[in-house]
Amino acid sequence: MALGPDSDPLAALRKLRSDHGSVFTKSRGEIYVSDPVLAKEILANNDDLFREHSDFFRIRTGMFAPRSAQVEIGRTARVLLRRHIADHAHELPAIVAGLTPSSDWPDAGNRLVYEHFRPALIGDAPSAALRETVDQVVERAVLAGARDRWSWLARHRFRTRVSRTLCAELAVRRARRRAEPADLLDVVALAAAEGTPDPDLAEVFLSCLFAVAGSVGFLLGWSIYLVGTAESEPVHPSWVVREALRLWPVAWQFGRTPNREHRLAAVTAKPGDEVVVCSYLVHRDPSHWSEPDEFRPGRWASGAGQEAFIPFGWGPHACTGAGVATTVAETLVGLITSAYRLDVAAPSSRPQVSAALAPPRFHLRLEPVSA
Ligand code: HEM
Repeated sequence: MALGPDSDPLAALRKLRSDHGSVFTKSRGEIYVSDPVLAKEILANNDDLFREHSDFFRIRTGMFAPRSAQVEIGRTARVLLRRHIADHAHELPAIVAGLTPSSDWPDAGNRLVYEHFRPALIGDAPSAALRETVDQVVERAVLAGARDRWSWLARHRFRTRVSRTLCAELAVRRARRRAEPADLLDVVALAAAEGTPDPDLAEVFLSCLFAVAGSVGFLLGWSIYLVGTAESEPVHPSWVVREALRLWPVAWQFGRTPNREHRLAAVTAKPGDEVVVCSYLVHRDPSHWSEPDEFRPGRWASGAGQEAFIPFGWGPHACTGAGVATTVAETLVGLITSAYRLDVAAPSSRPQVSAALAPPRFHLRLEPVSA
């Protein structure tokens, strides 16, 4: 199905599901899956029906390897970020107090999360060149819609410059071989197998940056947007964050390639096809969720429906940063909603759809609750 520039890709997918059922062909060779049980089977890949794949570790030349290095990066990144949260949680109230009374989102959320995690990403005392480069990646590539503001040539030149700076830094980190990683650059450098090219490591580091500043920032943005536009009184931050992840999963589709021909419900999947597990559709499955399109954070009081909830993927490649992401988002939502009344003004309620599902642009006015 061809989609025009003004079309709504999510509405188009919902229509295809309602017309054709929970497994359907969107375009030639592109099979969408929205059935929760099937979605988990595909991601678990117990019968080896799909090629080994992780969106996080996908790089320009294919898949970052070996798997043992992927696992080590996932594990040590989680440990490092958890330690960062434990050591720096006391700084969050001051960061929230520093929010201006009026700000533009979701960018403000991405920047806030990035500021908090910058030392965990590039260290306490990065060189001016490293700091400036990574700050610019956030502004030019992580923020929603930022890439579209640059020409192909400008993006190409910028990518080359970023890769050069990161490779130089990674070479230093690899030579130094610290016993314990001090930041995510070390995490990537220390887990790398000998002979892994530095540009591959630079790409994996950028995946970490996109996960932290991009995905966690968007999750915060969605949570604030939903609280600010809801009729109801603020509720428990963990319910808000889970409901934001259900309604608007930042990682909204994960592609897999069949190893051999097999059936997916009524559809035949063949090598060369792309099977897309769509968390956005799984999370709105009416047989698992009552009023699936409504923001109802109270539904999480009972925990019902969890079997149709895959915001962090499933199986061997499920997100290792899930706990970190939800903890930070919940803390920030709690701090913001307890200190301020939120007034959200959004010119459009349409999400910004790309590889990630980002909130619509909105303007946030904060009024201190004690005023
Ligand atoms: C709201 C924030 C986040 C969301 C929605 C998210 C979502 C996901 C999803 C859906 C996957 C599975 C991809 C697939 O199966 O192809 C994944 C994998 C992964 N995520 Fe996250 N992520 C988030 C934050 C983070 C953070 C903060 C980190 C820490 C660096 C992280 C590290 C990883 C890693 C290492 C993997 C690959 C696991 C593997 O293949 O073994 N994520 N993430």
